[in-house]
Amino acid sequence: MASLLKLLPMLHFLFMLPYIVYMGGSSDANGRDDSSHLQMLSSLIPSEDGERRLLLNSYNHAFRGFSAMLTENEASILSGYDEVLSVFPDAVLELHTTRSWDFLEARDSKLWSRISYDHSSADVIIGVIDTGIWPESPSFNDDGIAEIPSKWKGVCMEGSDFNKSHCNRKLIGARYYHNKAFVVKQNETNPTKNRGSPRDIVGHGTHTASIAGGARVANASYYGLAKGTIRGGLPSARIASYKACTLDGCQGSIILKAIDDALKDGVDIISISIGISSIFQSDFLSDPIAIGAFHAEQLGIMVVCSGGNDGPDQYTVVNSAPWIFTVAASTIDRAFESRILLGNNESFEGAAINFSPLSAGKRYPLVFGGDVASSFTPVSDARYFFEDLTGHFKSKCRNCMPGSIDYKKAAGKIVVCVSDDPMVSRRVKKLVVEDAKAKGIILIDHDGENAPMDSGTYPFAQIGQSIGSRLLQYINSTKNPTATVLASEEIRKFKPAPVVASFSSRGPGSLTENILKPDIMAPGVAILASVVPKIDSSYAAPGNKTSLFAIKSGTSMACPHVTGAMAFIKSIHPHWTSSIIKSALMTTASIYNNIGTPLTNSTTDYPSNAHETGVGEIFPTKALDPGLAFETTTDDHLNFLCYYGYKNQLVKSMSRKNFSCPKNPNRDSISNINYPTISIGRLDRDGGPRKIKRFATNLGAPNATYFSSINAPSGLQVKVHPRKLVFTQGMKRASFKLFFDGKEASKGYNYGDIRWFDATHIVRLVFAVNVE
Ligand SMILES: *[C@@H]1O[C@H](CO)[C@@H](O)[C@H](O)[C@H]1NC(C)=O
Ligand SMILES: *[C@@H]1O[C@H](CO)[C@@H](O)[C@H](O)[C@H]1NC(C)=O
Ligand SMILES: *[C@@H]1O[C@H](CO)[C@@H](O)[C@H](O)[C@H]1NC(C)=O
Ligand SMILES: *[C@@H]1O[C@H](CO)[C@@H](O)[C@H](O)[C@H]1NC(C)=O
Ligand SMILES: *[C@@H]1O[C@H](CO)[C@@H](O)[C@H](O)[C@H]1NC(C)=O
Ligand SMILES: *[C@@H]1O[C@H](CO)[C@@H](O)[C@H](O)[C@H]1NC(C)=O
Ligand SMILES: *[C@@H]1O[C@H](CO)[C@@H](O)[C@H](O)[C@H]1NC(C)=O
Ligand SMILES: *[C@@H]1O[C@H](CO)[C@@H](O)[C@H](O)[C@H]1NC(C)=O
Ligand SMILES: *[C@@H]1O[C@H](CO)[C@@H](O)[C@H](O)[C@H]1NC(C)=O
Repeated sequence: MASLLKLLPMLHFLFMLPYIVYMGGSSDANGRDDSSHLQMLSSLIPSEDGERRLLLNSYNHAFRGFSAMLTENEASILSGYDEVLSVFPDAVLELHTTRSWDFLEARDSKLWSRISYDHSSADVIIGVIDTGIWPESPSFNDDGIAEIPSKWKGVCMEGSDFNKSHCNRKLIGARYYHNKAFVVKQNETNPTKNRGSPRDIVGHGTHTASIAGGARVANASYYGLAKGTIRGGLPSARIASYKACTLDGCQGSIILKAIDDALKDGVDIISISIGISSIFQSDFLSDPIAIGAFHAEQLGIMVVCSGGNDGPDQYTVVNSAPWIFTVAASTIDRAFESRILLGNNESFEGAAINFSPLSAGKRYPLVFGGDVASSFTPVSDARYFFEDLTGHFKSKCRNCMPGSIDYKKAAGKIVVCVSDDPMVSRRVKKLVVEDAKAKGIILIDHDGENAPMDSGTYPFAQIGQSIGSRLLQYINSTKNPTATVLASEEIRKFKPAPVVASFSSRGPGSLTENILKPDIMAPGVAILASVVPKIDSSYAAPGNKTSLFAIKSGTSMACPHVTGAMAFIKSIHPHWTSSIIKSALMTTASIYNNIGTPLTNSTTDYPSNAHETGVGEIFPTKALDPGLAFETTTDDHLNFLCYYGYKNQLVKSMSRKNFSCPKNPNRDSISNINYPTISIGRLDRDGGPRKIKRFATNLGAPNATYFSSINAPSGLQVKVHPRKLVFTQGMKRASFKLFFDGKEASKGYNYGDIRWFDATHIVRLVFAVNVE
């Protein structure tokens, strides 16, 4: 017993974890010293553990709090302190590129060529919180850009291979952070080694920053593919880079510090292509991005975030707080396809970005992965079966799994593999087949339209199920099946586009269904933008040369498109609040694709719904003149927190002012905050009509009259009152009520919209109503 007690302090030490301690809004925005945070920590940690009385990060500007190494017990004690709003483990968040790590793209898509403006009238500073920046990229060239605006108060931090001369009038700021939780215990005698740097070595941050605000770069391409001019949403925008992530992910406490710094530095918009994993979402106050973005919104700064890549399942969207602009990913009208030629001269197109050296003149033996399994693989695992009656096949084989291939049987052949296990990515299967000295790989995936994978010079093509069945039938039908896989070609004016990417996370939000998420959709499949020119050891680049650009996919790429669009609108309407700009983009979004039919997802021709696309695809030039705006204020967000269930005292601490929660808060009231969409998470069909209220602000000519029309699925009764909104010189705001009656409606989500229109505007307010 005695010896056990002696052990306890040691165990204590072992179970220490980094925690974030959130203490609410800051009353003076000029910051304060860390002493009060240190005092709190010292009062808690026994003096013999003095070395642990160390603030890893301290938040003093837009909000208060700190991060530190704590035991679970200490964390629990801290959470009982009056001034502490929440204490939560400092989780590692993930970059929102596609699950398999992905590739490069090109972007003279229709969307961006419509924007002929390049106003440099107003300076807009975009803060990008990501993996840092590669400053030599031509996207960050400052030719023709005016002096740094005086509102900028940030810094260009020096670090290894990065000095002040790497910043310029385009890249005006760069910061990086030490993950002190891991370096505390290290030997600090050689501080110059690993001294850190704002420099990007991953490529993700360079890619997202160049999409949001990169300069125009002519003749950009990925080894000749997707050649054209690339540019950010506002080529004259300033970029400030905050390196919060490394290859290992993004520490929540550091993201929070980066947001605090960005607000102090004077950015106008913050772009974050990062999120907590959708399965770990617990509530808004244990999510560092939600906390940081809340305080950014209080200061009038919009935070734009990726919604995540956990689709197509429902309830996977993250970064879903109402004060965050949440982005879904779509395809653009450019595709990358690789031709598969069979021995019988039949040919198919597969999705791919490859620089295959194989020619059309030669064929190679074609085999199914299950048929070249090594004899060590259990037979039940190596075989496959498929049900051609339904057209769907379930492959039970462990085909092309690590260790499953008989090298002798596969060498020199083209191997057909099936995506059958979400835990084994297509990149792994490619490596397995490549390792077996096979000539190439054709992957059958349930979703052939998935973001094309970049396989370098290795012949790779991805096909859907129906082509997959035909390919397998061909293998079965002939004694010596053969094939070849040709180098990818770019298909322009691809139709239909945009289409919701299958990986794009879907709503409803798992924390509340009374706010519609994601908000909006933007290009996120196969996007060409700048990267760090380097070649990974596992990547066979054409000619063994590096490329300044790469094609990548993910909501990570969609998010900076919206950031860039906001910067563009802000440069033309400098006095619009971020809430007006968000509303403008949302009420003017496009709901049609380039063949003029409603947007769809990648597997059906049915119109896609608002939980897949949000309000639709961004249409930045239309958002310059939206007519009306639904402004969501800080008070709306504070009320949201009350309705969600947070205590009055806690919400007041976040508010920086004398705020009180409304009486009898309940979650249904969330639907009533003045958001630019409407979501009713539960409408009782026998409960009578539900009343929803909205305010509209007139942004156009003072005398305006708007009429309404309602699009609702049959059965759902929607009424509006009044049916006409009249604005005059002295009346810029008008309110209206909507009544939703689900008595006759079909069960589950009903989607529709109300449109307010005058002679020149259509203002679309989308709704989603879950009838029970
Ligand atoms: C800063 O870096 C640039 C480019 O690497 C180099 O040319 C320059 O000498 C460096 N300046 C200083 C003061 O170290
Ligand atoms: C730290 O490094 C110095 C010099 O390399 C070495 O002498 C010392 O033992 C190291 N200390 C620890 C705790 O590793
Ligand atoms: C782009 O490439 C074309 C042809 O390859 C060349 O004529 C042109 O000068 C290039 N433009 C730039 C800006 O490099
Ligand atoms: C596309 O929408 C249809 C109809 O709503 C649905 O059945 C299907 O699962 C969706 N596909 C994806 C990839 O989300
Ligand atoms: C395939 O096409 C080539 C060239 O057109 C021709 O020589 C060959 O006979 C064809 N093979 C079959 C099986 O049709
Ligand atoms: C392959 O051929 C055999 C025999 O002709 C048949 O039983 C089997 O169903 C076929 N399999 C496929 C995948 O077509
Ligand atoms: C490609 O470059 C790497 C690193 O510079 C080198 O080790 C390798 O031999 C090169 N491969 C070819 C085919 O030139
Ligand atoms: C805060 O607001 C409440 C209710 O609106 C009011 O009664 C109280 O006097 C206010 N307190 C301060 C310090 O302004
Ligand atoms: C708007 O309407 C009012 C009254 O109807 C009128 O006096 C005023 O001149 C109008 N203003 C404009 C800009 O048309």
